[in-house]
Amino acid sequence: MMLTRFANVFDEGFSGIVVTLGLQIFSVQAQCTREELLAAASNYIVAQTSGSLSGLSLSTDNFTYQENNEVANISTGVLSQPLKIDLNRTSADVVGCASYTMLISASGNTPYVIATQLRHAGEDTSSIAMIDTIAATTGSLFFNAQRTLEYIQGENWNTLNEDQRVDRDELKRVGDAYLDMWTDANAADSIPWGTDCERVEGSMLTKPCGASLPRGGSTRPNGNRRYVIDETIGSVDVLCSFDSLGNMPDSHEVRLESGKVKYVHTVTVIGS
Ligand SMILES: *[C@@H]1O[C@H](CO)[C@@H](O)[C@H](O)[C@H]1NC(C)=O
Ligand SMILES: *[C@@H]1O[C@H](CO)[C@@H](O)[C@H](O)[C@H]1NC(C)=O
Ligand SMILES: *[C@@H]1O[C@H](CO)[C@@H](O)[C@H](O)[C@H]1NC(C)=O
Repeated sequence: MMLTRFANVFDEGFSGIVVTLGLQIFSVQAQCTREELLAAASNYIVAQTSGSLSGLSLSTDNFTYQENNEVANISTGVLSQPLKIDLNRTSADVVGCASYTMLISASGNTPYVIATQLRHAGEDTSSIAMIDTIAATTGSLFFNAQRTLEYIQGENWNTLNEDQRVDRDELKRVGDAYLDMWTDANAADSIPWGTDCERVEGSMLTKPCGASLPRGGSTRPNGNRRYVIDETIGSVDVLCSFDSLGNMPDSHEVRLESGKVKYVHTVTVIGS
């Protein structure tokens, strides 16, 4: 009796150790704090406002600046031009250690709608490893920054209550299914469309957003996908090469509320 009891206690203690090890193995996946990610994104917005990189902590040994899917010189890219920012919004991916910021500059000299992912190396948010930006301006797909601003200003991207959230696997699945609609005839029906959802593609509004969807037809998948997933906002942003309809640098952002698509934004640059 005593011995059995002792053995049970030992078993429990042992399984406790196994659980602890399991958690440690799980936590090898990077985890960054939301506050640190948002702080880095905020510095990025300030840099774009001033056209000065001096407030940005860029990694000294591993930094890449990419603009419209091509490695570029940060000193001559769009980030080196001061822009009047009329709207900014950021989401944070605490597992991917990355953030996504949308910027709209409609009232300055040169209008821009900019979709930018910042990436940090591992869990080290003290510096930025990559600025990955899709910068749409006059001539980009359905471009009209003023109209885009008006639509997006009217949206609500507040933090979701716990019971309105879905997990990151579902957010990624929906982001992927969206980009697969042009090559996979079944993708559109796998997406949980909300009845009152809005789709803003450049400056083109479609409401409800589940109307008139592509159902395959292209043989070229949209490739080179980079994700920022934020469960608290219910958003997934995917930067990609929109190859299904041509080689177009592109950002697709989707928000889900209570598991249903509420908003879709696209920023698409033609030709590169
Ligand atoms: C980037 O642009 C700056 C400013 O024109 C220039 O001084 C620098 O040499 C460029 N760097 C590279 C690697 O081309
Ligand atoms: C970014 O947006 C917030 C409101 O969401 C605003 O308070 C802040 O001033 C904006 N930043 C810039 C640089 O425009
Ligand atoms: C360099 O940064 C990239 C992200 O831009 C990251 O994926 C990679 O792991 C980093 N490499 C090293 C050696 O830190």
